[in-house]
Amino acid sequence: MPQQFHRAIVVGGSSGIGRELVTQLAASGCQVASLARRDQPQGENIRTYAHDVTDFAAIPALFQQICLDLGGLDLLVYASGVMPPVRPDEFSFDKDKQMVDVNVLGAVAWCNEAAQRFGQAGSGTIVGIGSVAGDRGRAPKPVYGATKAFFECYLESLRNRIGSKGVAVVTIKPGPTDTPMAADHVGAKFPVAEAARQILSAARAGKRVAYIPWTMALAFFIIRRLPSPLMQRLKF
Ligand SMILES: NC(=O)c1ccc[n+]([C@@H]2O[C@H](COP(=O)([O-])OP(=O)(O)OC[C@H]3O[C@@H](n4cnc5c(N)ncnc54)[C@H](OP(=O)(O)O)[C@@H]3O)[C@@H](O)[C@H]2O)c1
Repeated sequence: MPQQFHRAIVVGGSSGIGRELVTQLAASGCQVASLARRDQPQGENIRTYAHDVTDFAAIPALFQQICLDLGGLDLLVYASGVMPPVRPDEFSFDKDKQMVDVNVLGAVAWCNEAAQRFGQAGSGTIVGIGSVAGDRGRAPKPVYGATKAFFECYLESLRNRIGSKGVAVVTIKPGPTDTPMAADHVGAKFPVAEAARQILSAARAGKRVAYIPWTMALAFFIIRRLPSPLMQRLKF
């Protein structure tokens, strides 16, 4: 039977996929804590918290405070992410560090808190927004893809640690989705409201891994198997 969420944290609720998740969860009657640096959706069932995920030291106390404010927790979604533009000849440590800080270290800091709480409770759902970009080392964005590969591997480890205790750990792998992050993407983009709907459906079903939309699973089934010399020539 699909899981119903009553109390949720969405990290990265100010824009794109995270913002849509906050809106849809709140509309379903779930009490939602939305976190980000910028303005976030307002309305019934939504509490907002100004937060920069690179303020790692603040995360354990903030997590506990939000659980008290909500009166419990059954869902954590980590949706924060950055993907600065990178020129083909650019190797910027500053940009790379920003991606590692937000996409990797912020994710670990938040998901560790939820894993500990949910593991002790023997219930709960952790959803990580990864990306198809983590499936191969592609030329245009070396560190962005690597952060998403890290996140997927980390989430699989969490699942293998606490899945048997009744905790669902769901890795979401969107393809190009119509959000501000993908503004420069030429080509088809999946509508963000439908992406959020499919993400919540995967979370409620407790899926291990979900490509969004599912057709991405077919495309990346092939891309994951392309020989390295071919990937080098394709440069996509
Ligand atoms: N759009 C796509 O095509 C696509 C495809 C695959 C995967 N994804 C992944 O989906 C997730 C959501 O991306 P999106 O497309 O919805 O992008 P978006 O519209 O740019 O939203 C990114 C979110 O991350 C938050 N964030 C960034 N830096 C942060 C920080 N230091 N502290 C707290 N929050 C921070 C932003 O909040 P503030 O700036 O307000 O802090 C914002 O809410 C990301 O992990 C992204 O990698 C996106």
